[in-house]
Amino acid sequence: MRDFRATKKYRGDVAARYDEKRAVKDVTRRDQAIVENYLSKVAPGSSVLDIPAGTGRFIQFCLNRGLRYTGVDISPDMLDVARTKVPAGATNVELRVADARALPFGDDAFDYAIIIKFIKWLPNLELLIDVLKEIKRVTRKEAFVQIKVTRRLPLRRRAANLLGQLPIARHVFGAQADENGSSAAKTPVRPFRSFSQQELAEAFAAAGLHVRAIVPDGDLRRGRNFYILAKQVD
Ligand SMILES: C[S@@+](CC[C@H](N)C(=O)[O-])C[C@H]1O[C@@H](n2cnc3c(N)ncnc32)[C@H](O)[C@@H]1O
Repeated sequence: MRDFRATKKYRGDVAARYDEKRAVKDVTRRDQAIVENYLSKVAPGSSVLDIPAGTGRFIQFCLNRGLRYTGVDISPDMLDVARTKVPAGATNVELRVADARALPFGDDAFDYAIIIKFIKWLPNLELLIDVLKEIKRVTRKEAFVQIKVTRRLPLRRRAANLLGQLPIARHVFGAQADENGSSAAKTPVRPFRSFSQQELAEAFAAAGLHVRAIVPDGDLRRGRNFYILAKQVD
């Protein structure tokens, strides 16, 4: 199976310092509130699979709500940090090293799945479809999936993003802000993969999932949505 950058990135020091670096970000707090709001509507006693669990930031919330929590991640180092968040004697938590593309669980093993800060790392549509198929296979009711959606930028900004890679661009565009609110010359290339509405429709259909609802991120500049996905009824 071909790796992509995130499968190797979150090791060692990156894992150890992940919480400290991320906790300060507004976007992290907003994500957290949106996911917790979703989970607060899930019936106590339900099982939730967190793919990938990272450092386990949703563990405590799930336990407080009486949910059964399972987290998987390809990085043992991230899960080591997550383990420090499991209260002593907690029986409703399981953490396992696993690849999101081949989950070590049977069909319909979980009521719900949450997939946060992961899809943006997938380099192409084929991989997105593979991951969505695995999510569908192991999930009985719903999956809550955060996805960055491609937005069509005005021509001037697209040009700025492209030309911003050249040193001369700073003089041409000055402090022209791109969609991330930074100068085009400083951040010419958007680092994460986004998918167009058409690609998403194709991927959901190929995976046999349908959109039950869409929860917008709230920050229009980022173009991210949280999709509540469920199995298509044949
Ligand atoms: C940005 S972190 C997000 C973690 C968590 N979902 C959160 O929101 O805090 C991305 C995580 O994806 C994990 N990862 C990367 N490739 C993976 C794969 N193929 N299968 C499972 N986890 C993977 C990394 O180890 C890392 O912990």
